[in-house]
Amino acid sequence: VTGNASPLGLDPFRAASGRVYDYLLGGKDNFAADREFVQRVLTEAPESRWAARQNRAFVERAVDYCARQGIRQFIDLGCGLPSTTQNVHQVARRVDRACRVVYADGDPMAVAHAQALLARGPEVAGVHGDLRRPRDILCHDDVRRLIDFSRPVAVLMSALLHTIPDADDPPGIVARFMDAVAPGSHLVLSHATHDMDPDKVDAIRKLYEGAAMPLATRSKDEVRALFAGLEMVEPGLVYTVEWRPPLEFADPGLAGVYAGVARKPG
Ligand SMILES: C[S@@+](CC[C@H](N)C(=O)[O-])C[C@H]1O[C@@H](n2cnc3c(N)ncnc32)[C@H](O)[C@@H]1O
Repeated sequence: VTGNASPLGLDPFRAASGRVYDYLLGGKDNFAADREFVQRVLTEAPESRWAARQNRAFVERAVDYCARQGIRQFIDLGCGLPSTTQNVHQVARRVDRACRVVYADGDPMAVAHAQALLARGPEVAGVHGDLRRPRDILCHDDVRRLIDFSRPVAVLMSALLHTIPDADDPPGIVARFMDAVAPGSHLVLSHATHDMDPDKVDAIRKLYEGAAMPLATRSKDEVRALFAGLEMVEPGLVYTVEWRPPLEFADPGLAGVYAGVARKPG
């Protein structure tokens, strides 16, 4: 938070990952600083808009999958700004109107939008919380009100953990959330990688770091390790565009983001 931050902790003069992603997706909830930052990213990686859309499309397919497995409660961690396409509760409630969804984010603007635009009924809530303090989210009154921890939950961490450096222990964060939920719960996770083009990703990482946004891309093995103790659902850990896709792409690695869904055994 800088001297330009509002009382809510929102600084319109610095790019923020949720708003950057919103602009990549064609949304309107972003500021000039975010748009200028995206223009620099697009110079290095012109496919970034497509890759962001493919990440959202993976989230929609994964949520639909979880709902069809009988899951009726969802916690969307690092939910970002409301999607330009379908949000989690809209996808889940196509399967069953009774689905309940908690949207959580550390960015006050994302939470304010979730509360105003998504949480329009008692089955949906928007919660402010830092992923690195799982207890704050898991013990939040709205989470306790909406989520029955004796029944399976889908925990979403989409395009999120590459904002968390190793020093903050991403595998430990995943474990703390998955320890809190019942057997049969699912983890929906996507994560940026440098595997296909390390030099290009290095240039993008420098841009993010220059804008004070950590970008901790990881290899396939490092992302797979985040699913420790869970059973991967078919087709396993793959690029977003390869996870149960409606269409096949010739060059899936261009998506630059691994995606997987896994089930808590027991
Ligand atoms: C790229 S957006 C992803 C949005 C959405 N999950 C998706 O995949 O479409 C990343 C979001 O994670 C949030 N975030 C980053 N670090 C966080 C943290 N430590 N705690 C909570 N939210 C965080 C950011 O504020 C941002 O809204």
